[in-house]
Amino acid sequence: MATDVITLITKDHRVVEGLFERLKKKEGDQRATVAELHALLIAHARAEEDRVYPGIDAHHSVEEHKEAEVLLDSLVRAEPGTAEFAKALDALIESINHHVEEEETKLLPALKKSADAKELERLGTLFQQRRAEELRALSGGPSGTAGGEATKAELYEQAQRADIPGRSQMDKEELAQALRQAKS
Ligand SMILES: [Fe+2]
Ligand SMILES: [Fe+2]
Repeated sequence: MATDVITLITKDHRVVEGLFERLKKKEGDQRATVAELHALLIAHARAEEDRVYPGIDAHHSVEEHKEAEVLLDSLVRAEPGTAEFAKALDALIESINHHVEEEETKLLPALKKSADAKELERLGTLFQQRRAEELRALSGGPSGTAGGEATKAELYEQAQRADIPGRSQMDKEELAQALRQAKS
């Protein structure tokens, strides 16, 4: 089910907005929604950075991802129902909405101009693969749980608690190493 990369990215943006709505309206399990949002935003951002941005001038967008991930961290750490949670949510929504608007009005149209339909399909497949890989790593899929080892999501949580700088940019090995250094 190959689809072009622009359709895939845009679809994710709408899903993220749906999750924001649920959090704003305090619908359902807030923690579960935040976990879903966290996994989706990280997987989406990594897939864009690794498979889509390299072909276009997207330095500014990478900076925006970093900024959004700091705000995402604050939301993950906040207790649902508190003023701190509401504040973190508002800040994240503002940051992401701005970023999504830029992607959809500047980056993606530029990409569409520079690549033909076949190339957009090829990038779509690459984007989807990278995104799925990251989601698997975050949820502790088959490759993440071997030998009772901590999953990437678990390491990430520990890194959040230890307030390790740059954690959202780290892969599983780097997280494990940073945690070992923080403890020693
Ligand atoms: Fe995006
Ligand atoms: Fe992005």
